[in-house]
Formats: sequence, structure tokens, C-alpha cells
Amino acid sequence: MKNVNVAIVGATGAVGTKILEKLLERNFPAQSIKLLASKRSAGLEIKAGNQTYTVEETTPESFEGVDIAFFSAGGSISEKFAPEAVQRGAVVIDNTSAFRMNEDIPLVVPEVNPSALQNHPGIIANPNCSTIQMVAALQPIKEKYGINRIIVSTYQAVSGAGSEAIDELEAQSGHFEQRAENVAEILPSASAERHYPIAFNAIPQIDAFHPSGSGYTLEELKMMNETKKIFGDQNLSVTATCVRLPVVTGHSESVYIQLNADNVTVEDLKEVLKNAPGVVLQDDPSTQTYPMPLFAEGKDEIFVGRIRKDREEATGFHLWIVSDNLLKGAALNSVQIGEKLLEEQ
Ligand code: A2P
Repeated sequence: MKNVNVAIVGATGAVGTKILEKLLERNFPAQSIKLLASKRSAGLEIKAGNQTYTVEETTPESFEGVDIAFFSAGGSISEKFAPEAVQRGAVVIDNTSAFRMNEDIPLVVPEVNPSALQNHPGIIANPNCSTIQMVAALQPIKEKYGINRIIVSTYQAVSGAGSEAIDELEAQSGHFEQRAENVAEILPSASAERHYPIAFNAIPQIDAFHPSGSGYTLEELKMMNETKKIFGDQNLSVTATCVRLPVVTGHSESVYIQLNADNVTVEDLKEVLKNAPGVVLQDDPSTQTYPMPLFAEGKDEIFVGRIRKDREEATGFHLWIVSDNLLKGAALNSVQIGEKLLEEQ
């Protein structure tokens, strides 16, 4: 594995800071790491490991000599700068939704579809955070029994909407008595026409509503479309409802699946999940053991519990899947994509 020059675009953000942390923690073979953000942050010093890094403004020239560029500064920044990085010889691993559904661009979860990395046009897309944890947990079940239907409801943390959303939750949380009047400017999304308090609330809107009038939000459509693309199965039936909760970090998901196989038991599914890479089974009602976002924060794994057989549908099962949305849902998955790329060189 050769040593590479790395850049992180959005290095001061909620995901960007975790990308740096993961690169250092996992001894990613980087001979240099360049931290890029907006003009506002130029000159800012960030201490990590035993080094101090100085943040630079992102410009097309920032990518001269860069081998791998991790992008996490929003879709419009990726659209503007990813082609500039590729033109200068870098491979871009993009955390935004800008390129995920482009046919030529691989959308990769290393435990699920690593072979998609073999053909890339210089950009590789990192899936949506809620999608990653769901497909990685379902992959071993799909491989063994086949899955034909997924219905998922998410319970998503505010850090998925960036550091300003974390600040908003923190500011509102101190105002119990005025909870319905709390000032809200960021959620459900900064560009939305109306904003609602997230503290003491649940907001059934993540990202904008699709202009078609279908009633689905873009986050829900991301989960539905990306799941089919990653699993390489356009016939898979997937429906999502995405909800934001006053949780700082850690997305939770209630997932209903229908298998292609008959006579599968809860024990069978537990056995499969026990051996799944990156998955931890936490499922014991007798000791109230189940995954919770508060305890998944800061952990790399995907936690699965509350596995039940549907009482009406013979091939149906229910699962509760929790993971740190900034780690496996974003930074860790991106760094793992980078590691896989280097392994294949
Ligand atoms: P900055 O801190 O300079 O604004 P989050 O997802 O936590 O909101 O973080 C967003 C990230 O995207 C931050 O690192 C932010 O940098 C970065 N960013 C925002 N606008 C730009 C821009 N025009 N060019 C490069 N990076 C940007």
C-alpha cells in the first residue's frame, strides 16, 4: 500500500472532523493531510493526534498533488470542486448526495458491494447515513435468505444536519416551559420555508419534500433509491419514513423485512447477524438489552436488536438498527472506502 496525499473538504464540519479522527486512528497511509473548508475558516488551527493542522480555503488549486479527497461540505461544494479535484488526478470520496444516483458513479458500502469500486470515473459516492447502517445490517440476511421487501421508519439524530443543528438542539433544550415557542432556524432544513423546534419534539421531515407532490421527502427517496442501487436489485420493494428526533448523535431505525425463504426463525437471523462484519447483536428482552443511540455514539459498529417475527406475515421480521451516523454512517464508511481502494492498487 503506497503512502498517499489526502485532502478533507469540509474539515471543520461535523463529519469532516470525524474523517480526520478516523484517518489518524486507523493509521491510514497518508503522507500528508490537507484540511480544507470555506474562506471563513482559513488559518484556523486544528490539533489532532500529535500534529497541528492549519485549515485552508478550498480552491481548485487546493487539489494539486492530492491523491484522495474526502468531501463533506454539502452538495453544491462537491458539484463545484469534485470535478476540479478529479481533473488534477485525485480520487474523490464524496459524502454528499450530489453524485450518488449517477449511473457511472459507484455507491459503496465496503461490507456490501466492494466490487463496485473496480470501475469508477474518479468519484466514489458514500451513501446516505441511514442507508449505510440499514444495508450493512441487512446484507448477510439478504445473502442467506433473500429479501423482497423493506419498510423502514427512521429516528434520526440532529448531527446528521450538521453542527448548526446540534447547536440549535442544545440552545432549545434549556427552555422547557417555552418549548413550543423555541426559536428555530435550522431544522427541518436551513433552506426550508418554515422551521420547527427540535427539542421536545419529533419532526417528520428530513430534507425537502420532492417537488413531484408524491409526499415523500428527499431523505426518504435517498434511502429508497440508494438501497436498490447498493443491493443491485431494482425489483426490491423499499419504503421509508424519515423522522428527526432530539438525539445528538446516533440514528435508529425500525425495519420490517420480508424474506424470500420460508420457515426462517428469529434464532436463524440472530445466528447470521452474530457473524456479520461490523455488526453487533444486542438482543435480549429478559435483560432489557437492545441498541440505543446514546450508547452507540462514538462506536464504529452497527447495533441490531428487538428482532421479532411478524405475527401475520410468515416471511416477515422486524428489527431495530442503531449506529453512529457520523461514523459508520459517514466518516468511517468513507475512510473504509479509501482503504479498500488502496488495497486494490
Ligand atoms: P466552514 O466551517 O469554513 O464554514 P457541517 O456539515 O457541520 O455544517 O459542516 C459544513 C462544512 O462545510 C464545514 O467544514 C464548512 O466550513 C464547509 N463549507 C461550507 N461552505 C464551504 C465552502 N464554500 N467551501 C468549502 N467548504 C465549505
